[in-house]
Amino acid sequence: MTEDLWTKVDEYITETLHEDDPNLEHVLKNSGEARLPPINVSKPIGRFLYMLVKTSGAVRVLEIGTLGGYSAVCMAKALPESGRLITLDNNPVCIRVARKNFRDTGFENIIELREGEALDTLAAMNATGETPFDFIFLDANKPDYPDYLEHCLKLSKPGTVILADNTVRGGDVLNADSDDYSVQGVRRMHEIIKNDPRLEATAIQTVGEKGHDGFTLARVKD
Ligand code: DHB
Ligand code: MG
Repeated sequence: MTEDLWTKVDEYITETLHEDDPNLEHVLKNSGEARLPPINVSKPIGRFLYMLVKTSGAVRVLEIGTLGGYSAVCMAKALPESGRLITLDNNPVCIRVARKNFRDTGFENIIELREGEALDTLAAMNATGETPFDFIFLDANKPDYPDYLEHCLKLSKPGTVILADNTVRGGDVLNADSDDYSVQGVRRMHEIIKNDPRLEATAIQTVGEKGHDGFTLARVKD
């Protein structure tokens, strides 16, 4: 009953406030037809990512965890022509679907998909002196969040914004004794943020068609 209401409000927000975007619908349709798990960000959160990239004036965006490319297209839409979005994934099915989605929607020149274990790709990016990013969206394996964050900090500069998805987990984030590696990953990432004087952060809990979850928003201080 409650989730039904949250879903209806998500639909209301989408219909009332979002412009129609055939590209985003196409990405969701392709992802569904390819039987990807429906764990993409919701339409309002996708739009929120777009708004954050747009309002911050980000030009270089890094995404960890591509899935079918829905969030990547949401963010790429907000970039100028000179912008660049690098997205990392290791799953062959996701890679195939996302590449098709980037091609079909005309974003293949702005979005670059780097294949492989994200932790390896991130280490390689650091080793080769990748230009720092303005905005980073963390959405891959939750147990690896602490390690992703450490790599991402090295790919950041003052003002870089890092948004990590799925950090409330239906409230399970409260459970320090959880045997869920995802909960422990999120909690350890929060400890790192708390103890790193370079970072300022908050987390927002969300409800919607995907239930009760949330995201953590961190910023590298000036
Ligand atoms: C899962 C992963 C996600 O990134 C998400 O937003 C929801 C669910 C999952 O692995 O179950
Ligand atoms: Mg997610």
